[in-house]
Formats: sequence, C-alpha cells, structure tokens
Amino acid sequence: MKKKIGVLLPLIAIIHIILAQGQQGFISLDCGLPSTEASPYEESYTKLLFSSDQTFIRSGGNGRIAKNPEGFAKPYTTLRYFPEGKRNCYSLKVEKGRMYMIVARFVYGNYDGFDLKPKFDLYLGPNLWTTIDLQRLGTDSTSEEILHMPTSDSLQICLVKTGETTPFISALEIRALGNDSYITKSGSMRRLSRTYFSKSGSNIRYMKDVYDREWVSYGEYFQKEWSNISTALEVNNSNKYLPPKDVLINAATVTDASAPFTIVLPSGGSGEEYYLYAHFAEIQDLQANDTREFNISLNGEVLSDPIIPKKLDITTVSSVGTCQGRECLLQLTRTSRSTLPPLINALEIFTSIRLPQSKTDENDVAAIKNIEGNYSLSRTNWQGDPCVPRQFLWDGLNCSTTDMSIPPRITSLNLSSSGITGNIAAAVQNLPQLGKLDLSNNSLTGEVPEFLGNINSLMFINLSRNNLSGSIPQALQRKGLELLVEGNPMLCLSNACRKRPKKNILVPIVASVASVAVIFAVLVLFLVLRKKKSATVQGTPTENDTFANKKSRRFTYSEVVEMTNNFQRVIGKGGSCMVYQGTVNGAEVAVKLLSQTSTQGYKQFKAEVDLLLRVHHTNLVSLVGYCYEGDHLALIYENLPNGDLKQHLSGKGGRSIINWSIRLRIALETALGLEYLHIGCTPPMVHRDVKTANILLDENFKAKLADFGISRSFGGCEAQEFTEVAGTHGYIDPEYYRTNRLAEKSDVYSYGVVLLEMITNKPVISEEYHIAEWVGTKLNQCDITEIMDPNLCGGYDYNSAWRALELAVACTDTSSSKRPVMSQVINELKECIACENSRMSNNQGLESQEINISLDTSLVPGAR
Ligand SMILES: *[C@@H]1O[C@H](CO)[C@@H](O)[C@H](O)[C@H]1NC(C)=O
Ligand SMILES: *[C@@H]1O[C@H](CO)[C@@H](O)[C@H](O)[C@H]1NC(C)=O
Ligand SMILES: *[C@@H]1O[C@H](CO)[C@@H](O)[C@H](O)[C@H]1NC(C)=O
Ligand SMILES: *[C@@H]1O[C@H](CO)[C@@H](O)[C@H](O)[C@H]1NC(C)=O
Ligand SMILES: *[C@@H]1O[C@H](CO)[C@@H](O)[C@H](O)[C@H]1NC(C)=O
Ligand SMILES: *[C@@H]1O[C@H](CO)[C@@H](O)[C@H](O)[C@H]1NC(C)=O
Ligand SMILES: *[C@@H]1O[C@H](CO)[C@@H](O)[C@H](O)[C@H]1NC(C)=O
Ligand SMILES: *[C@@H]1O[C@H](CO)[C@@H](O)[C@H](O)[C@H]1NC(C)=O
Ligand SMILES: *[C@@H]1O[C@H](CO)[C@@H](O)[C@H](O)[C@H]1NC(C)=O
Ligand SMILES: *[C@@H]1O[C@H](CO)[C@@H](O)[C@H](O)[C@H]1NC(C)=O
Ligand SMILES: *[C@@H]1O[C@H](CO)[C@@H](O)[C@H](O)[C@H]1NC(C)=O
Repeated sequence: MKKKIGVLLPLIAIIHIILAQGQQGFISLDCGLPSTEASPYEESYTKLLFSSDQTFIRSGGNGRIAKNPEGFAKPYTTLRYFPEGKRNCYSLKVEKGRMYMIVARFVYGNYDGFDLKPKFDLYLGPNLWTTIDLQRLGTDSTSEEILHMPTSDSLQICLVKTGETTPFISALEIRALGNDSYITKSGSMRRLSRTYFSKSGSNIRYMKDVYDREWVSYGEYFQKEWSNISTALEVNNSNKYLPPKDVLINAATVTDASAPFTIVLPSGGSGEEYYLYAHFAEIQDLQANDTREFNISLNGEVLSDPIIPKKLDITTVSSVGTCQGRECLLQLTRTSRSTLPPLINALEIFTSIRLPQSKTDENDVAAIKNIEGNYSLSRTNWQGDPCVPRQFLWDGLNCSTTDMSIPPRITSLNLSSSGITGNIAAAVQNLPQLGKLDLSNNSLTGEVPEFLGNINSLMFINLSRNNLSGSIPQALQRKGLELLVEGNPMLCLSNACRKRPKKNILVPIVASVASVAVIFAVLVLFLVLRKKKSATVQGTPTENDTFANKKSRRFTYSEVVEMTNNFQRVIGKGGSCMVYQGTVNGAEVAVKLLSQTSTQGYKQFKAEVDLLLRVHHTNLVSLVGYCYEGDHLALIYENLPNGDLKQHLSGKGGRSIINWSIRLRIALETALGLEYLHIGCTPPMVHRDVKTANILLDENFKAKLADFGISRSFGGCEAQEFTEVAGTHGYIDPEYYRTNRLAEKSDVYSYGVVLLEMITNKPVISEEYHIAEWVGTKLNQCDITEIMDPNLCGGYDYNSAWRALELAVACTDTSSSKRPVMSQVINELKECIACENSRMSNNQGLESQEINISLDTSLVPGAR
C-alpha cells in the first residue's frame, strides 16, 4: 500500500508540469482570489492554471459575486474592486515585440449588494482601450479582448474610475500568440466577435485551442436561412492561425443554393473599420461533377479572389474593409461555375484600435522604479505609466509630454518631505533630462554625489534640511545650476574642502596683478550682460574662485607666442584666421589666431568666449583658453590628434577608413553633442555649421563637434562668407535658406547630410545632384548595397544600415516639421548600434579588422 501512494504523488506532479509547459506564454489571473485559497489551481473545465492576482497589483479589495455563482467557472466568481484612487494598474511581464491576446473579464454579480452596474474605463498603458459599461450593455458580465504587441517588457493594464461607480475586474488572461498571425499595420486590434458555425455546439477554448481563444457557437442565433453541416472526419487545421479542429468540423451553408450567405457584422468598429479572418474547409463529400466556389464581399466590395475550400483542409482569408455609417454586410456569393452554395466554418471580426500615446521612456521608467524601491515609497498614484496620460502624472514628477509620438521623459522629481532615508539614489543619474530635483526636508545621509553635476539639464537642486555630509563636488558648481544645501549640519561648505576635479587644470595660473584686474573686468561684464542666473551655492564662492574653477583661461599674447613657438607650425588656414600648433603645459593645443585686420570687435569676441565658456560636453571640443590683447585675438582649443571625420571618410592625409560600427558611434556622439547644444544649454544654441569637417576625433576616435555657434556670433575663419545665411553649401537647411528662420531643426538637416555622407561616402554636392537626391533615387531600388559606402565591403548589419539610412532621410526632409529632434535621433541610433553589435558578436573572429590609427598629430578646429 505504502508503495502505491509513493508512486502516485510524483505522477500528480508530472501532470502539473506538463500542463504548465503547454501553457507557456500564458498568464491566467483570478482577480480577487482570497489569500486563504490555494494558488495556483487548475480550472476544471479548461485545465488552465489560474493564480491569484495579488502580486501584480497593490491596491483594491476582494469581492465575490452574489448572483448566480454556479453559472460561472471558479476564476470568474471572485473579483477585485477599486474604491480608492482614480487609476489602478496591473503590471505584467511580457516579451517585447511578441503578439499577445489580452483578455479582461468582468462579472458584476451584485458583489457589493448595490445592484448598480458599474461603468469605468480600461487602459492599456497610457492609452484608452475601451469603456466598460455594463449598464448600457444591460448584462451582468462582459469580456474584452485585444491583440497587441507590447513595445516594452512590461504591460500595464489599468482600471480608471470615471464616475460614481467602482471599477472592478474578475480575471485577466494573457496569451502569447504565434509570431506571424494577426499582424496588421495599425498594430492592435479589438475583438468584436469570434464565432463558429455550429447550431448545437458549445463554446470552445483551451486545450482544443492552443492559444485559448474562445470560439462562440452560433447556437440559437443560427439563422433559419442557413443549414448546418458537420463531419466526423479530421480536418487539417495547420496554418498560422491554427483554429481548433473541433471548430472546423462544423460549417454553415445556405438552404437556397442560389442565395448569398449573409452575415450582419456587429457594430462598434472604430470608423467601422473591420479586420476579418474567415476560416474555410470543405467538409462535405463532393461528387466529381460538383464544385464549390464563391466570392467574399463586404457591402458589395469583393475582398479576395474566389474561394474554393480545400477538402478537409483549412483556408483562411484575412481582409480589411470599411463600412462608413452603413450597416455592414459580409456576403458569400457563389460564382457562376459553382454547383454548390457557399460555406463557412468560422469567422473572427476585429476592429483596429489606435494607441497613439507613447509610453514614458523605458529607461526613465526603470530609473524611477529603482528610486521608488530604494526609498520604499508607496504612493497610491505611483501606478501605471509615470507621465501619461497627464491627468495621472505621478505625484512629485513632471515630464515632457508635448508630442504623443515621442516617449515622454521625466523632467522633474520632487520627493521633498517624504521621510526618505539613506543615500541619494544612484538611479537619479539615469534620468538624463531631469531639470529639477527636490529632495529637501528628508533624512538623507552620505555625500552629495558627483553624478548630479553630470546631468546636463539639471538647473535646480534642493537638498536643504537633510543630514548630508562631506563636501560639495566641483561638478555641481557649474553655471546655470542652482544648488540649495542649507540645513545639512555635517556638510562642509568652505572652499578649503571643495573637491578638485579629477583632471588637473591644464594651465597653472600665472596671472600678473594687471591681468587679474582685466579678468575681473571681463568677468563683471559677463555677469552684467548675461541674464542673471547665478549658481547659488551655500557659502557662495568669490568671483575670483568661480573664474579659477573654469577650465578655460585667459592668456597674454606673449604666452601665445611662446606656446606656438613663435607660430612655427601652421595646421590650418581660413579667410580671416590661421590655426597653429601649440603646447600648454606639455599638452597639445590648437591656437586659432584671428587676423588683425578682422572686423571682430571686442563685443563679438567677448560674446564668443562667453558662449564657449559655458558649454561643456564630452562631445564638444573644449576651449582651453583665449587671448584678447589689443589687436590680438586668439582661441585655444584642446588637441584632437585624429583629425576630422571628413579626412577619414575620404582617406585623405593618410587617414584610415573607419568601419561601420565606429561610424555609428561617431554619429551617436555627434548627436549627443548637438542635443546638448539644443536642449542642454540655456539659452539653447544652434550650431549652424554641422559638417564632417567640423567633427573632430580624439585619440580614441571619440567624436567632438567643433566650431559650435561660431558662425552665429563670430563668423569663424570664414568671415567673408558670413552673409545673412551662414553655414556650408550643401549642408544648409533649404527651409532656413528660404525663410531665414533659424531653429534646431536646421542643425538636424545638416546632421542628416553628415549621416548620409557617413553611409554613402558620396560627395555632398556634385555637378548632377545633392547627396539627398542621389539617395532618394537609389532608395526606390531597394538594394542597400548600392547605397552603402563600397569601402565598407559589406561589413555591416543590413538592419542597422537600413535604419541609419531611414533616419538620415528623415533628418534631411525638406520640411523641418517632419524631421526628428535630436533625442529621437539618439534613440534610433542606439537601436542601430544594438543591431550592429549583435552582428558583431555573431561574427566574432571573422571581423577583427583593426583601425589603423595614424600618428599624425594635426589638430584642426576651424581649419579646412
Ligand atoms: C517568435 O518570436 C519570439 C520573439 O521574437 C521568439 O523568441 C520566438 O522564437 C519566435 N517563435 C517562432 C516560432 O518563430
Ligand atoms: C444540425 O443541428 C441540429 C441541432 O439543431 C443537430 O441535431 C443536427 O445533427 C445538425 N446536423 C448536422 C448535419 O450537423
Ligand atoms: C496539413 O497541412 C499541412 C500544410 O498544408 C501539411 O504540411 C500537413 O502534412 C497536413 N497534415 C495532414 C495530417 O494532412
Ligand atoms: C452529378 O452526377 C450525379 C451522378 O454521379 C448526378 O446524379 C447529378 O445529377 C449530377 N449533377 C449535376 C449538377 O450534373
Ligand atoms: C467574383 O469576384 C471576381 C473577382 O475576384 C469577379 O470577377 C466575379 O465577377 C465575381 N463573381 C461574382 C458572382 O460576384
Ligand atoms: C537601489 O536599488 C538598486 C536596484 O534595485 C540596487 O542595486 C541599489 O543597491 C539600491 N540602492 C540603495 C541605496 O538602496
Ligand atoms: C510641468 O511641465 C510643464 C511643461 O512641460 C509645465 O507647463 C508645467 O507647469 C509643469 N508643472 C509643474 C507642476 O511644474
Ligand atoms: C516639492 O513639493 C513641495 C510640496 O510637496 C512643494 O512645497 C515644493 O515647492 C516642491 N518643490 C519644487 C521644486 O517644486
Ligand atoms: C518637513 O517635513 C515634515 C514632516 O516630515 C513636515 O511636518 C514639515 O512641515 C516639513 N517642512 C517643510 C518646510 O516643508
Ligand atoms: C528648499 O527646501 C526647503 C526645505 O523644504 C524649503 O524651505 C525651501 O523653500 C526650498 N527652496 C526652494 C527655492 O524651493
Ligand atoms: C546625522 O548623521 C550623523 C552621522 O553621519 C549622526 O551622528 C547624527 O545623529 C545625524 N543627525 C540627525 C539629525 O539625524
């Protein structure tokens, strides 16, 4: 006896494992299942394994239907209701890019004793999915189904209170579908009906349907003009839709063989647009002289070629049709050579559903969830998407939400007076567009982290009334950043303990008393002329201190003479300036000397220096210093030993040709530099002269944009070209050229041209065409190898090449409004790089083409 029991137990376990395997990609939640009951459990009719929903949501109460509990399967007898909060969300893990069927079920059953049927909204992430209105439906229960491909790994299903009644839900069922079935261009579809043509059958679900679609039998609605047929033989159901065999063995035909088979489609289509999937299989034994052939049409419009159902084998016709404002009739009409009436086995009807609002940027969501976890915050409205819809914005956040098609970004975080403890969460640095951070009046401890200074968009930080210690990092003392730290008794504010930056200041201060005075004068002018937005650091440093903190310095003319060894080596030349090689403290620099006859006045020069001093970004060439002494005007830049991108594309000057993956990285870095100019600086700046010759490469081939803003305020070397429209021929935005209105999108255009150059290595302008036109004509031929730079020898991932090309084409759109903004460009490039990286990791070993770094030390800001 004992032995028998011992054998039985593992057997039960095995059965459960097999079931769970068959249900891979399924999530079956019994909402409101009391914690006293077993979870998961096997539902007796479908054998589906249902679990409690409590780990997927953190709000709501449990209810149980009072009316007709025997009429429903166990998962639908309990429910979760949401008396509190406007929006309550389930959060589920899914596989990004996979097609899912999502079913939500609602059985009211007078669970609350009010006998008042609720009405509320159902959201999928930030978008309205549908309104649940049992009052209007006049029923006690309903279900909603959507076929949807998630754009991230998490899926949010939210119930939103819209009136007096309380939202509730009985079950949530998520099913991963086959990859190539139900693909539509609109993305997501809402089910209107899924029926099969049986007069007596019952509804069919899992396990007969591998995807657990619910096929509703026509039953009592079977029309009297129809006749039911069925077969005992097996019907082959294998195509990408895989409808159950038990569905396909039934069909309906018309009794009057000459009449069409007519089905009135359910209303409720958005714009009455219908997606139809009709399944056919010949299940009658035909005579040799018999044919069955028919057309399928929607309100008279034929949807496909004539259909001849195959013997005991499936044919699926999928089609889209619209019925504007009319009753919608689907008709099967036999063709003239058909001897038998039309037949149909099963029909699925969907309507497209628009989900226009993008979810908040995935990385921002991850960061804010991390912060939430670190501080154990449990705010009731921190559910669903953090930023959108705007009326459900999480408390303490603000986001950029101007364009629905762009993922919103978190721009402000306010956790003031939230009782939080511990360090300042590291995840804050993963919110790159953060402009405001308020962590004041908490019990935060530890040091003020340096990373806060690296969030370029940060303009305001309030850390007052905490218990922070240590000192304030140098990086936080940049201009345009307001930092409040009062009420942190342990924090050291004196200059003595101010942390120095890691890199030493390039040049020691060797300023004479006289030049200190000049520095003061210049500085005061800067401060007066600039809109006053000073960095308020507790224990404000002296002005002298602020200036010394700058990495850029003022030099005397004699120092310039010395550093260039009396202007010995010319490395570049322009209309009104010369560029010389120099050394400052052993470090290589490029010295751009303006000719004395140049019309540059003090004001313009000062404006230029001011501009350059306040931009600091790793992908922008940085200014080491400047010289302004009498007629002598000079700008001193950091050294970039690898020259410019133009030389590398052309292979001129002994430069190596760089491979695709490095090109993508350079493109991304350039984009980051531009994005900084467009949105990271205040006020924003337009570069106006983005071109390959202005993209310089350091010793690691890291890209740095040069000459930023010069043309706007300065004219650079090419002052003679400085007419109304500045820039370089071929790169100038045609719209700007026409309207003379300058905006960030003009840089996007020039950037697009650069990207086209990097992709094709074609001249920007030749006698016959502009590079964008050339690409435009080639694009129609669909062969990307024709377009790509032949020097790349096919060494690129096709996907990444196509995406980069499409991006470049979008950037060079003649209409500025159709061009993306730089942050979109950046996101797209990251995807391109991911594609290319996966190719590289697949090809490891095959592709060990090293870059041939030439040791030419020319440094060329502004020289061309
Ligand atoms: C379907 O797509 C997913 C995700 O892209 C993939 O993991 C899976 O292998 C695919 N399945 C089939 C049958 O192609
Ligand atoms: C048609 O449906 C009736 C039930 O209404 C059933 O008794 C009959 O067997 C069905 N006929 C066929 C051919 O399936
Ligand atoms: C069913 O159809 C598929 C594709 O048409 C075919 O590969 C398969 O062999 C068929 N199965 C049977 C049992 O006839
Ligand atoms: C088809 O052939 C059968 C005999 O095989 C005959 O009874 C029937 O009338 C024929 N039908 C037509 C439409 O010719
Ligand atoms: C069926 O559709 C075809 C085109 O697909 C058309 O030529 C034919 O006239 C249609 N026949 C009927 C009976 O509607
Ligand atoms: C914050 O959370 C992340 C991930 O959840 C974890 O790695 C990190 O250690 C946490 N930091 C603190 C300070 O709790
Ligand atoms: C949030 O940001 C928007 C601009 O994106 C601004 O109009 C709004 O005033 C901000 N709200 C708060 C509470 O700061
Ligand atoms: C943060 O929120 C508090 C109230 O919760 C408010 O007093 C404070 O002004 C907010 N901080 C910012 C920077 O808006
Ligand atoms: C600081 O937080 C406490 C509660 O944590 C609150 O009572 C107090 O009003 C807050 N002070 C300010 C200035 O916001
Ligand atoms: C900074 O935070 C403190 C404490 O909450 C508050 O008293 C002060 O008003 C805040 N400052 C600003 C400028 O918001
Ligand atoms: C602040 O932190 C120090 C240790 O860093 C601790 O000794 C002190 O009690 C804390 N003060 C408050 C008010 O929490």
